[in-house]
Amino acid sequence: MKVLSVVGARPQFVKLAPVAAELALRGIDHVIVHTGQHYDPSLSEVFFDELGIAAPDRYLAIGSGSHGAQTAAMLAALETAFIEEMPDWVLTYGDTNSTVAGALAAVKLHLHMAHLEAGLRSFNRRMPEEHNRVLTDHAADLCLAPTEVAMRQLAHEGLVDRSVLVGDVMTDVLLRTRDAVIGRRPVLPAEVGSRYRVATIHRAENTDDPRRLAEIVAALQGLDVPTILFAHPRLRARAQQHDLELSGGSVVVADPVGYPDLVNIVTGSIGVITDSGGLQKEAFLLRVPCTTIRTETEWIETVELGWNHLVPEPGSGRLAAALARSAPPPTDAAPYGIGDAARRVAQALVDRHPDVATSTTDHPH
Ligand code: UD1
Repeated sequence: MKVLSVVGARPQFVKLAPVAAELALRGIDHVIVHTGQHYDPSLSEVFFDELGIAAPDRYLAIGSGSHGAQTAAMLAALETAFIEEMPDWVLTYGDTNSTVAGALAAVKLHLHMAHLEAGLRSFNRRMPEEHNRVLTDHAADLCLAPTEVAMRQLAHEGLVDRSVLVGDVMTDVLLRTRDAVIGRRPVLPAEVGSRYRVATIHRAENTDDPRRLAEIVAALQGLDVPTILFAHPRLRARAQQHDLELSGGSVVVADPVGYPDLVNIVTGSIGVITDSGGLQKEAFLLRVPCTTIRTETEWIETVELGWNHLVPEPGSGRLAAALARSAPPPTDAAPYGIGDAARRVAQALVDRHPDVATSTTDHPH
């Protein structure tokens, strides 16, 4: 069996790591295609190096652009790659433009396509990611769901027969990385002592409107504890464009770091402030309280369990007020699985392929 993974943006490299390791363990032929959506070494190469992923077999060098131009360029280049590789499965990850381009290129060629992280919804139709994930789920032959909530959503949309609950591969990689970095002293910016928070802001909804971005930055700068703001290139670009200084007050700006460093630094922090989906979950798995600057979250379990708090409008002291809330209740809930999701993904790919299914399995069809 031959599996072709389409990746392109930072969170997809993290998700790819445990899947690539599991496919290698099973001796399954695996081709990695990198669209080039993220090309800065700090957003791309470092993840391959640090997470032990083999270099991509194909690099399409698409780069940045408007959504239509970027997605279209990926679609054309992926089609050529798929025709040359002819995989048994195209595996798409998450909700980026690389995901939807991979999905569309695959189904147009009648290739079997599986979507990892299926069934997540924000129900916010202004988010580009929401369209990417809905379109990909409905095109997929196999929806690999990370949570029970995602499975219920897929059933609600009539996709239950194509869906398998596998757990969250980000749990696999997070738990492994946490165990590897335990006891390592995090390297922090010089201005930051042992009591600090971690912040990341990169979503278009937060960065692209100058008034909203200014409100978020002012709220972060006015906090009582030093806050390390890991600045995604989109954030830096928009801040510069809007003539907005990111550092100042409690904010210490830093370049993005690799995965083990991020896990280590978050573990040592007193809290996370973010609009990243992955980081909300990572904070929960590390049992660090998270405050999310968004109107909704796909990872509703983190909110229900009391470890994540949504602050849609952070101005007028609302962010500070949310951070002053009392400590979340201890929990041993595992809504994102126990770290065996990649194994289940590989098994589902074997079981659910109409032409290559060979083994008796835990997911018969
Ligand atoms: C993309 C995903 C988002 C994901 C995020 C993770 C889409 C629609 N969005 O958003 O879901 O959470 O990745 O980081 O696919 N840039 C660089 N260097 C790079 C890449 C980007 O400087 O290596 C800058 C460019 O100015 C670019 C901007 O960041 O225009 C946005 O990049 P893009 O890949 O379009 O979207 P992200 O905001 O990274």
